[in-house]
Amino acid sequence: MKRAIVLLFLAGFVFLACSPSKLNEAPNTNSDYYNEEYRPQFHFSPDSMWMNDPNGMVYLDGEYHLFYQYYPDSNVWGPMHWGHAVSPDMVKWQHLPIALFPDELGYIFSGSAVYDKENTSGLGTKENPPLVAIYTYHDMAGEKAGTNTYQTQGIASSTDQGRTWKKYEGNPVIPNPGIRDFRDPKVIWHEESKQWVMVFAAANQVKFYGSPDLKNWSFLSDYGIESGAHGGVWECPDLLKMELNGETKWVLLVSINPGAPNGGSGTQYFIGDFDGKTFTNDYDEALTKWIDFGRDNYAGVTWSNVPKSDSRTLFLGWMSNWDYATVVPTYKWRSAMTVPRALSLEEVEGDVILVSKPVAELVTLENIKRAIEPQTITTEFSEISLDDELLKITLEIELGDAERILIQFKNDKDEMAELAYNIKSNSFLFSRDQSGDMAFSDKFVGVQSSPRLQKGNLGLEIYLDRSSIEIFADGGKTNITNLVFSTEPFNSMHISTSKGQAKLISGSSTSLKSIWR
Ligand code: FRU
Repeated sequence: MKRAIVLLFLAGFVFLACSPSKLNEAPNTNSDYYNEEYRPQFHFSPDSMWMNDPNGMVYLDGEYHLFYQYYPDSNVWGPMHWGHAVSPDMVKWQHLPIALFPDELGYIFSGSAVYDKENTSGLGTKENPPLVAIYTYHDMAGEKAGTNTYQTQGIASSTDQGRTWKKYEGNPVIPNPGIRDFRDPKVIWHEESKQWVMVFAAANQVKFYGSPDLKNWSFLSDYGIESGAHGGVWECPDLLKMELNGETKWVLLVSINPGAPNGGSGTQYFIGDFDGKTFTNDYDEALTKWIDFGRDNYAGVTWSNVPKSDSRTLFLGWMSNWDYATVVPTYKWRSAMTVPRALSLEEVEGDVILVSKPVAELVTLENIKRAIEPQTITTEFSEISLDDELLKITLEIELGDAERILIQFKNDKDEMAELAYNIKSNSFLFSRDQSGDMAFSDKFVGVQSSPRLQKGNLGLEIYLDRSSIEIFADGGKTNITNLVFSTEPFNSMHISTSKGQAKLISGSSTSLKSIWR
């Protein structure tokens, strides 16, 4: 008996010591914490195990909630849960216990969350309105049995700031009519038609549904069968109300896998109108616009319930690609999110594009800022030393008569990631073909190409973290997000031209602090 009590006590101690909420509490003074090889230092990653898409992003009472596709038992994809973290600023994160677990209706796939301020759902009270999560159930048994109806939409509610959740007893709220890929609901309040509007992916298009109460949904319309890219299945849509020159525009984000411009997973968007029923594209349906031309920005969606005083459209993507996500060389955990980005519409070179800028809150991570000397860029490379592993680099370049400008990030092991800008074709090439650890997948290598969406002098803002490079050109008009597993930090930047001369008008490299220690 005594032994049993001692064992119980010991088991309890081990449980407490290992329970995720204990392990993950911030701030953490342990220097080993989040310090493994390749562990992102200023990007969100789970403490351990598998993560994919951001889910349920909603702001409430000073907290940005981030839920995410999570499998707590392995570092590869498996039965999906919603992991959970909160942040005061989208930059520093605190891990919280898992929010949603699989149940008899299935795994919990991607979805969104809203603040039901008027308690339209009746799942809270007038005094304490609920957060409502809207997600996809994926019934594995149904899939294995060969049915087409294994994905349905369900909801859950929380009246304690997302800490605990109760699944709705009337689930699923949208049953499946026989479409195999039927998932990833994003819900918004559509003020003009005074209803909740859900957009979700259904095979090669999206479906819009409307509801007065988040529980009863009716079909509104389909969109996209003839629009944009169709090299793979459509996933994780979002519908954004935005502004261009004082006019309302609706932007539809649609992730697609495979079929991205540089292979595998990517996110396209459409700009047009949404009248409470139907989305109409302002542009040629055949045209495809991409939010990012790198390989590692997928399934990104925006925060809901951002305060009116903050008019930003705030976005976060999963910084990986289904081509190799499950085999990247990290073991304790897998995957990170991109840096948070503010989206806006801008007219550029006679077109309208969705611009992504790193959020201003990232400035809080800035540490030592070093100026990079203005200089002529010639065919002889100039070497700029990079004095930190975590950096924000800015470069303003006058093109001169250069043909191609080359920017290489290097370390002492001759590992390298490079960005080339070709002035004549106004396009970029990005290569990580000699960037360090690449052996885990054939699909990780291959030169990436990207149009540059603005002409003229080139402005670059580049974020280097341990295992990623995010390039924002011309104030976020062209973006290239990539994972890079260099086995040592890049400690120098080489800038040169292939022919002719350009000028570095100004530049800086600013060291950034880790968000985890
Ligand atoms: C996108 C996705 C979603 C799905 C989830 C499953 O990466 O395939 O369509 O809901 O991942 O984890």
